[in-house]
Amino acid sequence: MHRQQAVIGHHTAELLREAEAYIRQFGSELRISEESTSARIAGIKAEIAERGTYTHTFEELAYGAKLAWRNSNRCIGRLFWDSLTVQDAREAAAANEIAEAVFRHIEYATGGGKILPTITVFAPTTDAARPAARIWNDQLIRYAGYEQEDGTVLGDPISVPLTRTCMELGWRGAGTAFDVLPIVIQVGANPPEWFDIPKDIVLEVPLSHPDYPTFETELRLKWYAVPFVSNMRLEIGGLHYTASPFNGWYMGTEIGARNLADPFRYNMLPAVGALMGLDTSREATLWRDRALVELNVAVLHSYKSQGVTIVDHHTASKQFMLFMEKERQKGRQPTGRWSWLVPPMSPATTAIYHNRYEDRELKPNYFYQDPPYGQ
Ligand code: ARG
Repeated sequence: MHRQQAVIGHHTAELLREAEAYIRQFGSELRISEESTSARIAGIKAEIAERGTYTHTFEELAYGAKLAWRNSNRCIGRLFWDSLTVQDAREAAAANEIAEAVFRHIEYATGGGKILPTITVFAPTTDAARPAARIWNDQLIRYAGYEQEDGTVLGDPISVPLTRTCMELGWRGAGTAFDVLPIVIQVGANPPEWFDIPKDIVLEVPLSHPDYPTFETELRLKWYAVPFVSNMRLEIGGLHYTASPFNGWYMGTEIGARNLADPFRYNMLPAVGALMGLDTSREATLWRDRALVELNVAVLHSYKSQGVTIVDHHTASKQFMLFMEKERQKGRQPTGRWSWLVPPMSPATTAIYHNRYEDRELKPNYFYQDPPYGQ
């Protein structure tokens, strides 16, 4: 009994420390008076003493989610951190209520192609190992990956473990290379439940090339419009939001230089090279590089011509340099991780490549969490 209390006391002290640090940062950045901030901290202290936890105001939650984006060292798109739309879904308790909020997020943030950076925040926990809810998908929209008899994968190899899990839960896909997986939601320690995403809210972009008319008809490639990261834990002031899906818009290379090009993903460079009539018999013809460029031209061309927000890596790099400059002007030392910020094609043509970044971890932030299903 005595021991138990000591442990709880330790957690509580830690929670209060984190809460106070955040509320002070919130107050100073938003120019809230010292009196109001101190009163708020006293209120939180009383609430923690009584309930073992506390509740963020909507403003504290919203600003914390924005700061978590600003502090995301791997993200090149942080110039827009202050424009994040925050949807408060802390009241959603049952899996189907969470699914409804997730669908609203998908529809709102997709904006018919005019993508709005958005986060939906579900109920928090004080102990990250005991989440109130988890979304099992790493992104809300992902293509299934089916392992074939011969060891090859139909669809997206990155999704093989989740696809297997969904099938064990009774889900069946159509069996194409682009089947959208269902959302798998777990509340507390309950068994997970899956929900098919209504087809009409999933915006996809068929890929065509401005100079190669057969690109569209021969390759029949497409990608979804919006990347919704759904497996990270948002930590603000000692509270852990273990379900807090968020989205920005794509940088073209994520699709054209990684998802469709990586040998362990859709591996399309050989097919693109063949379509272009390149000499693929020797590496020195640089057919891979030439195919890579044209695949990326197709991605940017297709998203733009279909009115779906996307950014090329040169523009994104310039926007990131502007973000760094703005942070310094505000008297803050920006942080970043070079290996993630550098685009995966023509890296040295961007300013990002030629700079150094301090990879310091600040809070609030988004953190990885272990997948709750077998890999
Ligand atoms: N790289 C991931 C993908 O290709 C998406 C990560 C988030 N990207 C973003 N632009 N917000 O699906």
